[in-house]
Amino acid sequence: MASIEFSKCEKSFGSAKILKGIDLQIASGEFLVLVGPSGCGKSTLLRTLAGLEKLDSGTISVGGKVINNVEPQDRDIAMVFQNYALYPHMTVEENMGFGLKLQGLSSSDISKRVKGISDLLQISHLLARKPKELSGGQRQRVALGRALSRQTPVILFDEPLSNLDAHLRSQMRVEIKRLHQTLKSTMIYVTHDQMEATTMGDRIAVLKDGLIEQVGTPTEIYHRPKNMFIASFIGSPEMNFLEGSIVQKLPWPNARRVDSVLGIRPEAFKVSNGSVNSQEIELGDFDIELSENLGGQQMLHGQLADQTVRILVDSLDNFSTGQRIPLKIDLTKAHLFDKKTGLNQRI
Ligand SMILES: Nc1ncnc2c1ncn2[C@@H]1O[C@H](COP(=O)(O)OP(=O)(O)O)[C@@H](O)[C@H]1O
Ligand SMILES: [Mg+2]
Repeated sequence: MASIEFSKCEKSFGSAKILKGIDLQIASGEFLVLVGPSGCGKSTLLRTLAGLEKLDSGTISVGGKVINNVEPQDRDIAMVFQNYALYPHMTVEENMGFGLKLQGLSSSDISKRVKGISDLLQISHLLARKPKELSGGQRQRVALGRALSRQTPVILFDEPLSNLDAHLRSQMRVEIKRLHQTLKSTMIYVTHDQMEATTMGDRIAVLKDGLIEQVGTPTEIYHRPKNMFIASFIGSPEMNFLEGSIVQKLPWPNARRVDSVLGIRPEAFKVSNGSVNSQEIELGDFDIELSENLGGQQMLHGQLADQTVRILVDSLDNFSTGQRIPLKIDLTKAHLFDKKTGLNQRI
């Protein structure tokens, strides 16, 4: 285990500034997910920590020691990549033990370690096989095993599940979390998938254009997004943004401003029965244009105050196209943004 600290980290490739001053602290033993759209600098940040890219300025500390000038092989950091290139001519056992061999471990120690990790990953029965004799999911397990067997205090994951199908991905998510609980290494997990981020992270750091926009628990980020970018990036289906007269219904003074935008998550609407408590306000009638059955829930697309919105309701409510329903909202679930700065006015 080791704590990690990025301080004022900057990195350019040619004239393109990719990391624009990253400050981020990760506690020892934490599972931090770094999430952001493709191209925002996630891999670059991870690679500077692993020593595969050199910073232009700023410092990175691990366990309180600045490691900027430590060679990658001396950093005691393991990394799992999206394209988990295994050595094709080696068996699973040899692939997993290769790094340990380079570290100079004896062959009996290597085989003990490989055995332990392969039990944990449930791939012990595959040890004698070559990569081409494995499924995609099994190969990814071997790649995980190769990184984990080094027993480093820090383990980095760069979109390791992107090449797996949805079912395997959700299974591996749980397994990686379970491994974290067993191994207790400090882990940084990179993904562009907001669902993966909120389901896996103890904390999430949202990266955009080379800057950290917000760091917090999944619940904090979901319920108290700092700005419109985070509000729309985290959560699926996306938050609705409403402008115009409907915003004036909010009892808050800064809702009167012309640049105010009301943000409401699809599941936050309630069907009104004509009465509101002190926390609620009426929003007016919603005209259903399209309904999608999602199993337990129903997604309704339609018009509210001349704007297109999506709302999620219980599928047993059985609403259908053409119906008009009155909506209300609990004010604790309404967000108010400044359209110019994007900032959330309520936090
Ligand atoms: N070695 C490199 N040389 C030049 N440009 C690079 C290099 N690595 C990454 N980039 C650029 O930096 C930006 C961020 O890349 P990356 O960190 O891989 O983003 P992410 O992992 O968030 O998708 C991209 O525009 C990418 O093209
Ligand atoms: Mg990447």
